Amino acid sequence: MSKISIIGAGQVGAATAVRLVDMELVDEVVLFDVVDDMPQGKALDIAQSTPVVQKQVAIRGTNAYKDIADSDIVVVTAGFPRKPGMDRLDLLAKNIEINKSVSANIVTYAPRTIVLYVANPLDLMTYVCHKLTKFPAQRVFGMAGVLDTTRFRTFVAMETGYTIRDVQAQVMGGHGDAMVPLVRYCSVAGIPLTELLPKAKIDAIVDRTQKGGGEIVKLLKTGSAYYAPGAAVAQMCQAIVRDEKRILPVCAQLDGEYGYKGPFVGVPVVLGRKGVEKVLQLQLDAQEKALLAKSVSSLQEQLDEIEKGKMYQ
Ligand code: APR
Repeated sequence: MSKISIIGAGQVGAATAVRLVDMELVDEVVLFDVVDDMPQGKALDIAQSTPVVQKQVAIRGTNAYKDIADSDIVVVTAGFPRKPGMDRLDLLAKNIEINKSVSANIVTYAPRTIVLYVANPLDLMTYVCHKLTKFPAQRVFGMAGVLDTTRFRTFVAMETGYTIRDVQAQVMGGHGDAMVPLVRYCSVAGIPLTELLPKAKIDAIVDRTQKGGGEIVKLLKTGSAYYAPGAAVAQMCQAIVRDEKRILPVCAQLDGEYGYKGPFVGVPVVLGRKGVEKVLQLQLDAQEKALLAKSVSSLQEQLDEIEKGKMYQ
């Protein structure tokens, strides 16, 4: 694999590009945006870092969709932030409009690519992109779980004092508040988290993780997180490009797994060169199943709203 394009050269798009260049994962990175000159400026700035960091990657900014041709992966971070006075549906409609234009151009210029969606509301946007591109679900999926788990892992390392290297975690379900943390599957060097921290501390970490995006928004005052999202996207790209077969939480389409058919939801998958190569089915206990059911049913309601309102046709 040799080319990754990023649609949306904002904060997350640019942070992702820097990571990809530093990892020297592919030969070429393309940064696309609708704003004139901005992606060209950011790409030139990143290109000028490459002699210092000694990374041989061609990075190019563009306002022309034709430049994404032959991409192996297209990362979509193009999105509209919530503005004062906009309700959830207004924001959804606006982001679906962006999704329509992005998906149509991906179909035209990069019909064989893998699409890695990042813009919010993630689970819904990934679903809409899959409907619009009509690509196999193996090639259309979203990034949320890797970010949620890396937040969880950070908090566990902070709380226990143990190295981040040994902390493992799994989450399922929708992104954000709808996230289903799987505490039973969290460990530090194989030692279950429940043996290392009291329940109250674990509950507080879960709560902080679910509200992790909001905590950063509050601190930044303008905009939302981008360093950790960029790192999470880059890790997923690496799993694909190097065919690592990593087991990562990914927003992927369920086709009967866990009893659901159709929605895109966070689940552990095997990620490799073909994209989502397998959805793993964990043996969830009753409480985890109930949390997942709640998460999926709230997603399904929103998907019904999108379908009923013919919002993407
Ligand atoms: N096509 C391409 N790019 C677009 C389009 C479009 N139709 N519409 C908007 N954009 C671009 C904007 O010009 C902007 O540069 O998308 C970029 C979004 O960048 P930021 O506003 O900086 O947002 P960012 O912080 O990067 O977040 C992007 O990722 O994490 C999610 O919730 C976040 O949905 C948001 C997305």
